[in-house]
Amino acid sequence: MALLEVRNLSTVIRRKQEYLTAVDGISFDIEAGEIIGLAGESGCGKTLSALSITGLLPPVAEIAGGEITLNITDNTVSHNRESSTISLNLRSLDEESLCRIRGKEISMIFQEPRQSLNPLLRIGAQISETLELHGAADKKTARAAALDMLEKLKFTEPEKIFNAYPHQLSGGMCQRVMIAIAAICRPRLLIADEPSSALDTAIQEQLLTLLGQINRDFGTAILFISHDLSVVRRFCRRFLVMYAGKIVEEGPAQTLFSASAHPYTQGLIGAIPGRQQRGKALANIPGKAPSIEEHSPGCPFAPRCPRTQEQCRRSFPPQTELAAGGAASAGHIVRCFVPETSHD
Ligand SMILES: Nc1ncnc2c1ncn2[C@@H]1O[C@H](COP(=O)(O)OP(=O)(O)OP(=O)(O)O)[C@@H](O)[C@H]1O
Ligand code: SF4
Ligand SMILES: [Mg+2]
Repeated sequence: MALLEVRNLSTVIRRKQEYLTAVDGISFDIEAGEIIGLAGESGCGKTLSALSITGLLPPVAEIAGGEITLNITDNTVSHNRESSTISLNLRSLDEESLCRIRGKEISMIFQEPRQSLNPLLRIGAQISETLELHGAADKKTARAAALDMLEKLKFTEPEKIFNAYPHQLSGGMCQRVMIAIAAICRPRLLIADEPSSALDTAIQEQLLTLLGQINRDFGTAILFISHDLSVVRRFCRRFLVMYAGKIVEEGPAQTLFSASAHPYTQGLIGAIPGRQQRGKALANIPGKAPSIEEHSPGCPFAPRCPRTQEQCRRSFPPQTELAAGGAASAGHIVRCFVPETSHD
């Protein structure tokens, strides 16, 4: 049983009298302890998918359908105690219950850390508050844990950072503080929404290393959201490709990079500087992704696709699992009427 199961999730935006679909029936699993990527161009629905999972959607958005299940397994197995799993239907939880889940079981970091930090509160208070909020520690223990976490996240002077205010820190340091807040309760799942895109390359690398460390040390699964496939490739063993609110391809990173089947994925990979790949013709992916106002019954990629056929304009392709690469490419799934199926 996966840690998180998302099934047919749809999220809409209210605009005047209309409901516009921004996340369109997506399904995927996140296994305990894995690092999975979610990639796609700007506006394809990555952030709204994450906010739907965490119950943090803005007032203008709402979930229109689907299920989100968090399976919490207690692995404490002793002579007379078997491991047991509690399945939580996140959509059915009230705000109070969701608050208990957020931070403790699922936490999230955002692209703009300064917007998530309270400018009036010292860093240390913001980190230890999360622990205290979840009843995991008294004030003294929470302080010690916060200092430990700052040290773990490579702050050379944890005490100084503990007592600092957000405006006294650089963007990269604020992002590390956000990781500290997100990781302090050792959550089962951390959603990182473009956490490194506003940072320079060296700081970006450091951030990925720290997230990797959280993953290893705490067994925290990470949903890593990025429009930058080269970063996703280095950091994630498996990833999902989203286009116009739908997941169009998913699979092991190695498989998608050597044998992607969807022309959009091929185009994204071909667009990575210095990359020679099948689908090179789409290196720049001419045209632009449809906005949420432009809804078509067919494949949303059809206007940009070199393989478009008549049926592509009529209906959205069903899911196909490709098995040509054997066990190494297990879980390679594509939604395209004309997928390239040769795994080389
Ligand atoms: N608060 C909002 N109000 C109105 N429309 C929104 C809001 N948030 C998202 N949208 C719309 O929903 C669609 C999906 O947005 P989302 O933020 O999930 O995209 P994204 O894939 O995260 O993009 P980016 O890579 O730019 O962060 C977009 O068309 C966007 O304009
Ligand atoms: S379904 Fe058709 S239009 Fe869509 S990506 Fe596949 S070939 Fe292109
Ligand atoms: Mg986003």
